[in-house]
Amino acid sequence: MCGIFAYLNYLTPKSRQEVLDLLVTGLKRLEYRGYDSTGVAIDSLDNKDIIMVKRTGKVKVLEDAIQEHFSGDDYSEPVLNHVGIAHTRWATHGVPCERNSHPQRSDDGNSFVVVHNGIITNYNDVKTFLAKKGYEFESDTDTEVFAKLVHHLWKKHPNYSFRELVEQAIQQVEGAFAIAVKSKHFPGECVASRRSSPLLVAIKTRTRLAGDHIPILYGKDDKKQSSDQDADSVLPRSDSTAEFMPLEEKEVEYFFASDASAVIEHTNRVIYLEDDDVAAVRDGTLSIHRLKKSLDDPHAREITTLKMEIQQIMKGNYDYFMQKEIFEQPESVVNTMRGRVRFDGTTIVLGGIKDYIPEIKRCRRLMLIGCGTSYHSAVATRQLLEELTELPVMVELASDFLDRNTPIFRDDVCFFISQSGETADTLMALRYCKQRGALIVGITNTVGSSICRESHCGVHINAGPEIGVASTKAYTSQFISLVMFALVMSEDRLSLQQRRLEILQALSKLADQIREVLKLDSKVQELAKDLYQHKSLLIMGRGYNFATCLEGALKVKELTYMHSEGIMAGELKHGPLALVDDSMPVLMIVLRDPVYVKCMNALQQVTSRKGCPVIICEEGDEETKAFSSRHLEIPRTVDCLQGILTVIPMQLLSYHIAVLRGCDVDCPRNLAKSVTVE
Ligand code: F6R
Repeated sequence: MCGIFAYLNYLTPKSRQEVLDLLVTGLKRLEYRGYDSTGVAIDSLDNKDIIMVKRTGKVKVLEDAIQEHFSGDDYSEPVLNHVGIAHTRWATHGVPCERNSHPQRSDDGNSFVVVHNGIITNYNDVKTFLAKKGYEFESDTDTEVFAKLVHHLWKKHPNYSFRELVEQAIQQVEGAFAIAVKSKHFPGECVASRRSSPLLVAIKTRTRLAGDHIPILYGKDDKKQSSDQDADSVLPRSDSTAEFMPLEEKEVEYFFASDASAVIEHTNRVIYLEDDDVAAVRDGTLSIHRLKKSLDDPHAREITTLKMEIQQIMKGNYDYFMQKEIFEQPESVVNTMRGRVRFDGTTIVLGGIKDYIPEIKRCRRLMLIGCGTSYHSAVATRQLLEELTELPVMVELASDFLDRNTPIFRDDVCFFISQSGETADTLMALRYCKQRGALIVGITNTVGSSICRESHCGVHINAGPEIGVASTKAYTSQFISLVMFALVMSEDRLSLQQRRLEILQALSKLADQIREVLKLDSKVQELAKDLYQHKSLLIMGRGYNFATCLEGALKVKELTYMHSEGIMAGELKHGPLALVDDSMPVLMIVLRDPVYVKCMNALQQVTSRKGCPVIICEEGDEETKAFSSRHLEIPRTVDCLQGILTVIPMQLLSYHIAVLRGCDVDCPRNLAKSVTVE
């Protein structure tokens, strides 16, 4: 949900042209987070002003505009210390247009310029306050309010440092945000902060840093003190005496970014900021501040070494990230199980939760909470969890769960499933459950994400970076993580050993079976040619495959803008059957499992209404295939893992329909990868 990228070089000569290239590349990596408008800000040639270029549309449009705007030798002159900030937007306040694009500025003179993710919920109050002070607003954004607030504080407190001004401002705004601020009054400095929206600082030095952490400072860092406490100031200036002694570097480059994929090509050393951290760079020195000390604050922020490889965030030979990610699934499912499942025995170790297993076994119920695709992984595994844990299992959409103020008890165990680990609804639900004393288990794909950090324990699904907006490999890895959890919970249940063995054997064959399913690609493409001009697609199934229907329909909707509905086959006669005729496209999943007979009934109900469904069935199942000339055959596996094999044709189908309809596969309209607003 919007991408922030900022770059600061200190004693590392870089021309403005190079800075702009870095900013544009950074934005391209973050484009999946939002792509309706973009912008950059750099210093003018005389260093007296800030130049901004903003465009509606994708980063490519901005790139062309930058080329047009900045040409000539002067832009290739190296500068020793410079800050550039950039943004790719997913509109929340104000339609996508240049005026509403970021950076937003404080005044005509571009004193302070701000890039921002998230929503400032009290922006109307702050706006009214600033309007009374004479500020005029030129955009519909909440971000502009922040830029003007910093400007107002600067006028009131001319002796404050840049960092102190931003610190004061963030304490007067409410909501979720990540920001990076640049100012012509503080050249070569950058200040950034976050609250409930991700932001990291990456550090690149020629020599290795002297330490692996940055101490946290409380209060002011300035040698120059001022006594100008202002009546207008909501907060008193901090009087902490902490010395400003963080890590000092000679030649250094800093990157501020919404996520690690934007920085990995430059450095693998990052600091994930915590809520209300204020990171400031001045004279090439990074310091991280918190205004108020709280008891559970660590004394330092660790520098994490990223394990991600640059190839993981490149498209390689594929046309789209989504396509690459679908085809990566034979490897990603293995990575999810690597070091955890011992196929030569029956043991499974989930290191991140193993110490909590006795507590989990004593719980009252399991709650699985997520949004969209992540929620579907909960639906897909619920039945197995019920079977192997013998506990009540509730699956919840995070938004609905919060709307209902669902009762939560201290002996509940709540799982929060999220690829990004930053989804606002899921994170809010997590905090809601944590406050009520439940044990919090995170199932995420993003190390260092908010959900990771705020969980008591968890499983990292290790699917690798997922860049296509539509989730694919994360789904299958979430699915497997939950299956592994069910297996761990049943390790000492004698009566379940045969069942566990059957599942373990099936897991060991899964990667090869996924490869088999992926071979259906050209057949699925042909099917897509039959379907892409239709308005709707109904996807029917039940039991272990109901989740595939929901997930398949979501993929079709979000990628192709066609209507699609996942229908529980058992519900057909209670309404949806009315939709079926000889022209309605229908896809049915009919596999040889305990609900096979019921699925066959549904198939008959559809064909007797002249429906002509595409059938996903098991290899060599002639009886089922006889019902339709169009079928996709998948290898046989244990019932509870079928959903992994059946979802892949659905991913491929939605992908091919999207391509045929000319849709932007990796960046579907109106969507963004990481939804950090409610
Ligand atoms: C659909 C999709 C979304 C996400 C949902 C939750 O393809 O990607 O439905 O699954 O926004 O996101 P995470 O998993 O990051 O919490």
